[in-house]
Amino acid sequence: MKYIISAIFFITVALSGAVSSSDPVMRSAQTCGDPSDALPFYRSYRSSGVDHYYTTNVELVSASIASSSPPYVLQEVAAFVFATQEEPTIPFYRLYKSSATDNLYTTNTTERDNAIAIGYVPVASDPFTYIYPTQICGSVPFYRLYNAAKIDNFYSTSESERLDFIANQGYEDVEIAGYVLPSTASQCP
Ligand SMILES: *[C@@H]1O[C@H](CO)[C@@H](O)[C@H](O)[C@H]1NC(C)=O
Repeated sequence: MKYIISAIFFITVALSGAVSSSDPVMRSAQTCGDPSDALPFYRSYRSSGVDHYYTTNVELVSASIASSSPPYVLQEVAAFVFATQEEPTIPFYRLYKSSATDNLYTTNTTERDNAIAIGYVPVASDPFTYIYPTQICGSVPFYRLYNAAKIDNFYSTSESERLDFIANQGYEDVEIAGYVLPSTASQCP
């Protein structure tokens, strides 16, 4: 556990350095959220009752590793997202269906309501996050894929991972969920 927490700390420090080095001139040219306010969106994975779980809350990452069986495994920082609403970001709702062990995230309120109608529940204990509705301010697409057999919504900024999940892992494209700040320095504008 200690190791995991220090690994998270290390990733946070290393990556927030990368994000906050964004060019301030670029920022003021558009209406953008302040990238130094963006938080790592941790991606954890559970292999049985397959689920990909995303949160900015390090304590919830640790809790999901400690408390579930099989445990969630921390995989990566999937992106950087805003924990407070900064113009022009919009809420990225998190919903959870316990009978399917599935976390679903969407900015689309119609889709949120459709999910609630089939048993997903909005998660209030996890802070809301906010993302861009269009590709602005150095953001990148957050691809959303779905595996119907595993009932798993999966999100990634990686085009190669998206293609691999479609070709080899039974997922199909759903939509671009929204636009997020990339987690790797090489993707920065
Ligand atoms: C929101 O979701 C509904 C239901 O899936 C869909 O018909 C609609 O096109 C979506 N709206 C946007 C802006 O994507």
